[in-house]
Amino acid sequence: MGSLRRRDVCFEYPADLRAGWHATMPEFACAANAVSLMMPYVEPYVVRAMREALPTLHGALSDDVRGYIAQEAQHHAQHRRFNDLVASQVGGVGAVESLLRRTFEWLWRTRSDRFHLAYAAASEAVAYGAARWVERHHAELFRDADPVVAALYLWHLAEEVEHKNVAYDVYDATYRSRWPLAGAMVVSMVVLAVFAFAGTTVGLWHERRLFHPVAVYRLCRWSLSFILAELPNMFASVLPGHHPTDFTDPTWFELYLIGIEQEQPAPA
Ligand SMILES: [Fe+2]
Ligand SMILES: [Fe+2]
Repeated sequence: MGSLRRRDVCFEYPADLRAGWHATMPEFACAANAVSLMMPYVEPYVVRAMREALPTLHGALSDDVRGYIAQEAQHHAQHRRFNDLVASQVGGVGAVESLLRRTFEWLWRTRSDRFHLAYAAASEAVAYGAARWVERHHAELFRDADPVVAALYLWHLAEEVEHKNVAYDVYDATYRSRWPLAGAMVVSMVVLAVFAFAGTTVGLWHERRLFHPVAVYRLCRWSLSFILAELPNMFASVLPGHHPTDFTDPTWFELYLIGIEQEQPAPA
């Protein structure tokens, strides 16, 4: 068996949970919700690409892909539940989701199998970059957040760190060229930027903070900090000779997963 395991988590949100679930920085909730809205679209897309590659894989890598698929399926199912809660409060979420659905249907219909796998590898590099950035800022970002929502994001990011190699290894076992990886990385960034902006905008409108100077300042500061710290790493991820293990994992997430496992029975 591979080393990746599915953790059966279930997040019980308070009945009165607000879509702006951060007590002191509701704009952070808006940005995080925007990322969450993407999950039930991007993750099934990458899972489908990996599932289609599975019959060509053998040994430890095929075990890892099964573990990867189980983790990702759990991620987007949990985000779906959370997003439904956000959509019930925030107008415009349905329109963003409809655009997301059409974007990923279009990518699947019009792009090649090689692009789908390259997109999976690129998305994992982006998720890994996001995890590293959040790890450095989690004390500031989640201090006044609803603890159940914080747990959803931190569990997801921790598993992104854990399975960072899998999509890359599948791409590498099937195709050698780095150019499709670079192209998929650009597309992945554009999709992230467009939908993060759209989702955050509808959230800020709902919170009546769309033009609030503090909200705008914080969002610009976080975006710039993320771009400066992680954009170079994401493009390094597509260079010849690079492997995701070249990056050092934040230990904090490993400890976070151990904490979850201690609350759960070990798999049979
Ligand atoms: Fe995920
Ligand atoms: Fe992932």
